[in-house]
Amino acid sequence: MILYVNACVRTESRTDRLARALLHKLGAFEEVRLADMELQPLNGERLAYREAQIAKQNYEDSIFTLPRQFAQADLIVVSAPYWDGQFPAILKIYLENIYAIGIVTKYAADGRPLGLCKAKKLYYVTTAGGSYRPKFSFDYIDRLAKGMFGIRETRLLYAENLDIEGSDAEGILAKAISGIEEIE
Ligand SMILES: Cc1cc2nc3c(=O)[nH]c(=O)nc-3n(C[C@H](O)[C@H](O)[C@H](O)COP(=O)(O)O)c2cc1C
Repeated sequence: MILYVNACVRTESRTDRLARALLHKLGAFEEVRLADMELQPLNGERLAYREAQIAKQNYEDSIFTLPRQFAQADLIVVSAPYWDGQFPAILKIYLENIYAIGIVTKYAADGRPLGLCKAKKLYYVTTAGGSYRPKFSFDYIDRLAKGMFGIRETRLLYAENLDIEGSDAEGILAKAISGIEEIE
């Protein structure tokens, strides 16, 4: 199963267009559209509830629906516009919700994280109004994927300078889309 984690917010999202062009090449997918979901950050109550379920190893609880879906995907595509040097908060909330010890990762006896996700590859797709700097977005996702989730390969696909005065945003996007042919 290919999982599409759609963290695009605008209805006319160019990031989503770029991601869908990639998905068209990859094949059938299941989508989680974060902006349409009632995702909540972990507060004291939800965290305590989740920890109690983890302690009981009650992984069938609905609080683990999203983590299980993420862990079981064969391939993951994450799309998110470049916002404030990073990505929309909804993606962080999603990560907080899926990051369940015992499902997406666990700790070895020596404290090292052991990834439990099935996916071998994760694509991160973004577009930026100005220059794209991956430090707090793609680099962070890459770190989590490889270091914690056990996803060995990550790929970045992006289009930048879309909002610069006089720039041909459609032309830049079309070029990025045509470059997908080359992507493995
Ligand atoms: C809330 C917000 C924050 C943004 N922050 C940045 C930024 O830090 N750097 C940048 O280059 N562009 C920034 N942009 C511009 C977007 O990255 C750009 O318009 C992008 O293509 C939007 O993607 P979308 O069409 O998928 O919504 C921001 C746009 C919004 C709405």
